[in-house]
Amino acid sequence: MGSLLLPGPTQVPHKVLMAGAAPMVNHRGPEFKKMIDEMTQNVKKVFKTQNDVFTITSSGTGGLETVVANFVNRGDKVLVASIGNFGERFRDIALQYGAEVQFMDFGWGNAADPAQIKAALDADTNHEIKAIFIQHNETSTAVVNPIKEVAEARGNHPALLIVDSVSGMGAADLRMDEWGLDVVVAASQKAFMAPPGIAFVSVNERAWKVAEANTNAKYYFDLLKYKKNLAKGQTPFTPAISTIYAVYESVKMLLEMGIDDVIAEHYFRRDMVRAAIRALGLDLVAPDEIASPAVTAIYAPKGIDPIKLRKLINERYHVVIAGGQGKFQEVAFRIGHLGYVEDLEILGAIAALEMALHELGHKFELGAGVGAAQKAIMSHRIK
Ligand SMILES: Cc1ncc(COP(=O)(O)O)c(C=O)c1O
Repeated sequence: MGSLLLPGPTQVPHKVLMAGAAPMVNHRGPEFKKMIDEMTQNVKKVFKTQNDVFTITSSGTGGLETVVANFVNRGDKVLVASIGNFGERFRDIALQYGAEVQFMDFGWGNAADPAQIKAALDADTNHEIKAIFIQHNETSTAVVNPIKEVAEARGNHPALLIVDSVSGMGAADLRMDEWGLDVVVAASQKAFMAPPGIAFVSVNERAWKVAEANTNAKYYFDLLKYKKNLAKGQTPFTPAISTIYAVYESVKMLLEMGIDDVIAEHYFRRDMVRAAIRALGLDLVAPDEIASPAVTAIYAPKGIDPIKLRKLINERYHVVIAGGQGKFQEVAFRIGHLGYVEDLEILGAIAALEMALHELGHKFELGAGVGAAQKAIMSHRIK
């Protein structure tokens, strides 16, 4: 087995995998109730919220669709602040649900600018904008958005602030209640260190009022059904029980480590990867100030095909890294470092990257990236 360094699905600790292998229970019975109640309480701590968190059996995109379907009426104006592939996905879902989308494209590789969002909201004097959709961590470009500042920019405008933290939750700081976020989405297969299968959606009181009055078509993703059922310790439809077993265990592990310490570890890994990449003479997509602690996007050197590079790294050295997404497919590649990752797995990935780059003709001193990563590890670990 090599290393799986994708920005999701991520590696799953052995204990979590074993938890997922437990026999099925009745999802309308007392064992399930106990489990989902406890898991929900713990997931709330990761979201830093007192609001309910709903467990939806779907991938992260199901969570995105849920929040559009429940908080947007046909014909509503919504603002989508996009910095990459997943911002575009929010736009596309909102369009499917009949929204009139004001698409603010901040450009791939940039973060959203709270001042521009504030200006757009200030210009909306009739309060036609009903919701602001934004990514916490944009996985395609490996950029973190300034969500706290965006929340401040929203100020007293009544639009709901709806945040996709699918790849951000547990990797980058997010404080749902303290920052006044109305709706937040996450998913099991990212920093939660669990298999795919669950989207989490948290909703505050303000947003509930909007959901209760919502008239858009929905059935499976109707949050009112999830709310009614969670009160009984159930989900409206058959849940991904095995993934719930896994998350039950993995969230306990996250809380034992301490969520702020887990996040700090992600930032350390980010800095280690960035130091190594720079030492190899490669260009990073994101500038330091907005660089993601979950994933790093790297431009392939001129003349080297990133698809060929990844294939070599995978076939020769059994390290799986991610390709560029959307329009970055042919120019970039990404190293995921969220969730359950050891220092030496990253070191191994850097070593594999070096050997593959060397084979493909990139000129650099072999070992330069590994050396930079080693220095970062030692200065972090040796106190
Ligand atoms: C920021 C972000 N949003 C949404 C999604 C969609 O999640 P899924 O692939 O689980 O549907 C992803 C997946 O990588 C993501 O990174």
